[in-house]
Amino acid sequence: MQSFNRIALAATIAGASWCTAASAQGTAEVLHWWTSGGEAKAVGELKDAFEAGGGTWIDSPIAGGGGDAAMTALRARVVAGNPPTAVQLKGPGIQEWANEGALNDVNEVAQSEGWDAVLPPALAEIMKYEGEYVAAPVNIHRVDWFWASPEALETAGVRDMPTTWDEFNAAADKLLEAGITPLAHGGQPWQDATLFEDVVLGIGGPDFYRSALVDLDQDALKSDTMVAAFDQLRKLRGYVDPNFSGRDWNLATAMVMRGEAGFQIMGDWAKGEFLAAGKVPGEDFLCAPTPGNGFVLNSDSFTFFNVAGEDNLAGQQLLASLIMSPDFQETFNLAKGSIPARTDVSLDAFDECAQRSHSDLIAAIESNALVPSMAHEMAIPRSVRGEFLDLVTEFFNSDMSSRDAADRLADAVLRAQ
Ligand code: GAL
Repeated sequence: MQSFNRIALAATIAGASWCTAASAQGTAEVLHWWTSGGEAKAVGELKDAFEAGGGTWIDSPIAGGGGDAAMTALRARVVAGNPPTAVQLKGPGIQEWANEGALNDVNEVAQSEGWDAVLPPALAEIMKYEGEYVAAPVNIHRVDWFWASPEALETAGVRDMPTTWDEFNAAADKLLEAGITPLAHGGQPWQDATLFEDVVLGIGGPDFYRSALVDLDQDALKSDTMVAAFDQLRKLRGYVDPNFSGRDWNLATAMVMRGEAGFQIMGDWAKGEFLAAGKVPGEDFLCAPTPGNGFVLNSDSFTFFNVAGEDNLAGQQLLASLIMSPDFQETFNLAKGSIPARTDVSLDAFDECAQRSHSDLIAAIESNALVPSMAHEMAIPRSVRGEFLDLVTEFFNSDMSSRDAADRLADAVLRAQ
């Protein structure tokens, strides 16, 4: 880690709110994958606030939902000795890059602003390497959501949002009968894996999810419960339209928006799309958690890479301070569809889906039902996640049996460890 005397700068930044810190200078090249309508709006809030704070923002967007393309680009940049200043990067990936000596810390900003006191401890731990903050969290996204078109559900005679997978299948059958695509889906590996993990939670519950997708327990991976999860995933395959292959997630959201599809199963960045299109929750679209009484956690963060030069280092500190400021956490998350990572930001301005996310999060923490997203890189190393994505996508696009899928998944995971 680079050492740099940042006390004076950190104090300057800490003393100013993000929108008035015009004396703080600095440059940040920010690599991210927020290119859909809602995502671009949210990252635009970050750029505007950074510039209002006196910084120079260099935008490096790498299109591709879920961030797989961005992570490939990042590796190339680091190997070439030219890392970006800050990268949208999360979960165990932060530790992996820190282990390679690729990160700078922003600990003086974190200390002087008291980050430890305002972050959930589990999230704070993910942001630290050897006790020092190397990343700052912007949000808490929930992955296990149904998004639905009230108009499509009404046409098909579906009265309530499903609370079990059997209820979902019954609703989907009614939509099929009414000639409406039941499930808007984009056939990309990370989207297939998103469906898969939500189904695993619903079929097996949080403890099973943790054994199979976090602890990588061989018995859980090969179990009849996993076979049952693949059976449900096979059902979902029957509910997507013929053109799902390769479709971007936000185009699937647009199908629900237009009432062409009944449901989408996607994290609450989908809500960012609805909101960016001027849609109102509870009226133009509906949200409800997928079955399982859990909460699949995905938290976006910016990680600070090993750049040199006072201007870049100042940029990192300004960005770190800004990201964690309460005003910014509110503005950003209102656009992104998520809720603030800081625990002390009021949710009064947030909609009913966000309120639900927040109350379910607290309930899940209390009942030990909070689980990290495998598909969104919160749970396991990238190499093992890759095995899940490959197998799940192959299953989704073939006639592989559920038993074969569970056995092959267990073998692939064992090999990758
Ligand atoms: C997730 C990320 C979200 C959203 C989504 C689709 O992995 O955490 O912020 O951007 O990908 O791109």
